[in-house]
Amino acid sequence: EQIIAIVPAAGIGSRMGAELPKQYLILNEQTILGHTLDCLLSHPQIDKVIVALNPQDDYFANLSQASHPKLQSVTGGKERADSVLAGLQLADSGAWALVHDAARPCLTHQDIDKLIASAATFPQGAILAAPVRDTMKRTSREGVITETVCREQLWHALTPQFFPVAELSRHLTAALAAGALITDEASAMEWAGIMPAVVTGRADNIKVTHPDDLQLASLFLKNSI
Ligand code: C5P
Repeated sequence: EQIIAIVPAAGIGSRMGAELPKQYLILNEQTILGHTLDCLLSHPQIDKVIVALNPQDDYFANLSQASHPKLQSVTGGKERADSVLAGLQLADSGAWALVHDAARPCLTHQDIDKLIASAATFPQGAILAAPVRDTMKRTSREGVITETVCREQLWHALTPQFFPVAELSRHLTAALAAGALITDEASAMEWAGIMPAVVTGRADNIKVTHPDDLQLASLFLKNSI
């Protein structure tokens, strides 16, 4: 089966408070998006990488990866899900898609391999996830604890998330049209009653969101084993 990767990279990264969109910040001599694309483009089982860009993107064309023969770009949309859908439009309907955040540059081939292999057991699709480590609290709006939430069977949803292209397109489109809260691909599948599996991924596959994350990601990229 054909496997493609879709990289939503159309966000502006407002929580970072930087002048550049966060995927274009430099970590260890290379942009965050560059690290992410290198990992996906060099994976032997990935046939094509589709990156969804902001219509105002002035930076992508300067990346050394921009001219890679396995890479295609598309204009993204208003929400992350719209950007993913734009990417899915360039995919073969019989293929499987690995959807991976541009802002997760510390991805490893080892985790991609694990996720791809899981399709033999979980034909409905699966996502990389990390078990919750800390004690979890629910609070009131005022920030006062109302409850300790049992952390057993609680996971951080990471990416890539791995689904058949046709099903993911269909359920993402329907869930968006229904106004459902869709913050990752799995939530669109769940909305349609399809329950994806979790595959334990590495905890260093962080999403660079706040300025503090830059130092961590830089360290993880240097020490990746
Ligand atoms: O904002 P957040 O960190 O959740 O974004 C996750 C990923 O989705 C980022 O890589 C961002 O560039 C992408 N995104 C997108 N289109 C949007 C919003 C976010 O491709 N409209």
